[in-house]
Amino acid sequence: MDISTVLKLADELVFAKTGKHLEYLEEAILQGTLYGQKYSQIAEDFHLSEGHIRDVACKLWKKLSDVLEENVSKANVRYILEKAKFYNFSTIGNDNLTINNVNICPQSSQPSQATPQTEQTPKPHIDLGDAPEIFSFFDRTPQLTTLETWILQQHSRLIAILGISGIGKTTLSLQLIEQIQHNFNYIIYRSLRFSPTLETTLTNLLQIFAPKSETPQNIETQLSQLINYLRQHRCLIILDDIHTLFSSKQLAGQYQTGYENYHLFFQLITQITHQSCLIVNSWEKPREVVQLKKENNAIHCLLLEGLGEAAKEIIREQELLDEDCWQSLIDRYQGNPLWLEFTANLIKELFAGKVSEFLQCDTLILSESLQAQLDQQFQRLTSSEIAVMIQLANENEPVCLAHLIKKLDLPTSELLNAMQSLGMRLLLDVKECDRTRFFSLNPVLKQYVKNRYTERNN
Ligand SMILES: Nc1ncnc2c1ncn2[C@@H]1O[C@H](COP(=O)(O)OP(=O)(O)O)[C@@H](O)[C@H]1O
Ligand SMILES: [Mg+2]
Repeated sequence: MDISTVLKLADELVFAKTGKHLEYLEEAILQGTLYGQKYSQIAEDFHLSEGHIRDVACKLWKKLSDVLEENVSKANVRYILEKAKFYNFSTIGNDNLTINNVNICPQSSQPSQATPQTEQTPKPHIDLGDAPEIFSFFDRTPQLTTLETWILQQHSRLIAILGISGIGKTTLSLQLIEQIQHNFNYIIYRSLRFSPTLETTLTNLLQIFAPKSETPQNIETQLSQLINYLRQHRCLIILDDIHTLFSSKQLAGQYQTGYENYHLFFQLITQITHQSCLIVNSWEKPREVVQLKKENNAIHCLLLEGLGEAAKEIIREQELLDEDCWQSLIDRYQGNPLWLEFTANLIKELFAGKVSEFLQCDTLILSESLQAQLDQQFQRLTSSEIAVMIQLANENEPVCLAHLIKKLDLPTSELLNAMQSLGMRLLLDVKECDRTRFFSLNPVLKQYVKNRYTERNN
């Protein structure tokens, strides 16, 4: 998260309502809190007593509560300011911001540190549809930089953000909007979670560009109209959850009947010249993205992995205890933000927040919500893919293909297709040693497969 922007927003809100800027120590406390510092650490940094910091902080939360008309505290200040920043600041633009009837003109307070980018294009038209609210955002700086380079410098036309459910694809793409919105005329986000047909998606998109015009019925005319808009305007379109377009119980990346024309749509986006970018988020690597990538450098793929160190902020937000054990909690749950959120809830409810006690459990604990989340992905697998997952869950070490061929009672071609498909679903860990590939499951998937498929059936 861009803490300096959030601080600036807080100061501007306070100034607009009270006519006074935040005091130096108030700003320092707010900044420390946004960085996840405890009062004792802030006190130490400023050579002041912890009691004094607490007193000033208490007045600060009261001041912000009055300004924002919400009960602000140390625990929720980040969420409330982030919410205000994202849903008002970025959507309306930096020039004129209204929150709770407080009208803010940044120019009238501190000198703006905004980059001259704002002058390049007029305010973008932003339509986020039913995008979820971002409550907090940590790190992902390298991924944001990579996406920004692909989009702004390399003029990529199609980007696939791929990763297992809960890893942060939706959150990352919404944060990206915030960062690069001034380079676009139109920014659109739509989730395809209910598997809309291409006609429905195109109708929906065309209505954003021309709300009063009648949308053509013919899909070819719809496509050519959309391409025209992508040429005329610089547009960033995010289509989330495109895995819903693919069939369940078939190998990865096969379109459901009636959805094959999405392939044509993605192909057109990459092959025709225009000045826009389409981002698709998916659990599964779409086949054409793999195939097209070879011959077309307007396509990029970002494979999203766990959050690493920054995941500590998620644990801090949940107010868990035993900070020295947090890293091992993160490692066990692969830094997957959603898995960590589910597990943190469980630790709060059953272990009163004590991470060290939770970690003493002899198996890896998967909450029912976490398993339900994985169920959605596993329901899509074929029986041969499930057989491979069960075999891998029972292995203690990564194994090579020859071992799996020997162990599994599957025709070799079926096994190879299943392995390739599991790879496209991002469910396998792969290592190479002496030019041999070794396959394994991460501990969470391993435990899930044991819980759902092995132990229950015994
Ligand atoms: N960088 C991040 N910082 C803080 N929270 C995050 C981050 N990425 C994801 N999350 C949280 O993790 C959960 C899952 O993220 P989401 O973007 O919905 O994942 P995906 O779209 O890959 O399924 C959400 O509750 C989200 O708030
Ligand atoms: Mg998502």
